[in-house]
Amino acid sequence: MTGILNVKPGVPLRGSTTVPGDKSISHRAVLMGMLATGETQVRGWLAAGDTEASLQSVQALGIQVDRHDTNTLTIYGGVLIPPDKPLDFVNAGTGIRLAAGIMAGQAFPSVLDGSEQLRRRPMKRIIDPLRQMGALIDAAEGRAPLTITPTQLKGIEYTLPMASAQVKSAVLLAGLFADGATTVIQPGPARDHTERMLRAMGASITVDGNNATITPGAALKPMDLTVPGDFSSAAFLLVTGCIVPDSDLTIEHVNLNNTRTGLLDVLLEMGADITISEQGEEAGEPVGTLRVRYSTLRGIEIGGETVVRMIDEFPVLMVAALYAEGETVVRDAQELRVKETDRIAVMSSELRKLGTEITETEDGFRITGPQTLMGTTVDGHDDHRVAMSLTVAGLVADEGTIVTDSKCAGDSFPSFSETLVKLGGQLLEDLETA
Ligand code: S3P
Repeated sequence: MTGILNVKPGVPLRGSTTVPGDKSISHRAVLMGMLATGETQVRGWLAAGDTEASLQSVQALGIQVDRHDTNTLTIYGGVLIPPDKPLDFVNAGTGIRLAAGIMAGQAFPSVLDGSEQLRRRPMKRIIDPLRQMGALIDAAEGRAPLTITPTQLKGIEYTLPMASAQVKSAVLLAGLFADGATTVIQPGPARDHTERMLRAMGASITVDGNNATITPGAALKPMDLTVPGDFSSAAFLLVTGCIVPDSDLTIEHVNLNNTRTGLLDVLLEMGADITISEQGEEAGEPVGTLRVRYSTLRGIEIGGETVVRMIDEFPVLMVAALYAEGETVVRDAQELRVKETDRIAVMSSELRKLGTEITETEDGFRITGPQTLMGTTVDGHDDHRVAMSLTVAGLVADEGTIVTDSKCAGDSFPSFSETLVKLGGQLLEDLETA
């Protein structure tokens, strides 16, 4: 991955914007849309590195997809045909894990693979429950590539060892092809987009607290959906608004699903000046507008279920914590170590380059603020959320900051730097330079 971003501090960011479509919902729209017989219409589709990889895999399974413009798709779902080469999910953990559940239930073999980065990520977490369902999956050392041989799946009851929406979704989607009901029991409220979408598609799914049961047999109906803006992308703007003096930002049409908005609760508890106006529903998800103004933040302790509800937001929370008065302590966040990178280690070491002090713990970190950041060169490590968080840090670090390997922001938020510039941020991007 390439790209260099020159970031200058000292100017407030002001104005209104939207953010691109939700990444989790966009993956599900194509992967689940292909299973319903008929035309699924998707507006607001996230055209980004990760989701495009899922879309290409769907097309490699013989599914016709018409692209009306960058963000509008028609998926002609129903009949999957055996792919003639491995499905390539590039960097997309959500894509490969959800697709593994689906492919385990098909009557033909498949191989699911991805980039070197994806090949390093743990797949045992989906392989274990899928094997309990009878799936035949070969994966050296529990990593991609995953080689799947067809077999009849059976329904199981499975207690997730970690609160992971990807694992939960892989099992529920495999459950569509099993010979009986499948129940997943999760230790915490992982995002529930799969359950919502399955219900909207007419699947027989019941949810009781943290348990979800899918009973196969109901034909899936095609969808007509507009993907709301991704809260995890809005998160970078929320923290920017809080920490860049004189900023005042409005982010419209954001998904406010409670399983995703832990950062909102945390920033409010830290004293952030954020107002939320709910606007209704889109794709069965609550949607609203967020307004954030420059705030004086104070450190807090974060652990337990809140962690699950903001698992993708810790890199940028670390930047906010550096500007908060007092100590911020994060516990129970060991899942951060198996994301695109070990986000505790990578963010700590990159932020230290900016002259900060951070204490890493096995399952989180401690940061005492406020601290002064000194601009220098930092690296995105081919991890979109790391690159974007470091860019936010650059907007407040003294002098200028250079973010190398910045292009990976395109895995989830391709218009990230453009959006910051539109809001007044001083950034200069060179995407070609290594
Ligand atoms: C996702 C689930 C989360 C999250 C990822 C997207 C999803 O991963 O970190 O960015 O769409 O289901 P885990 O399920 O591994 O927690």
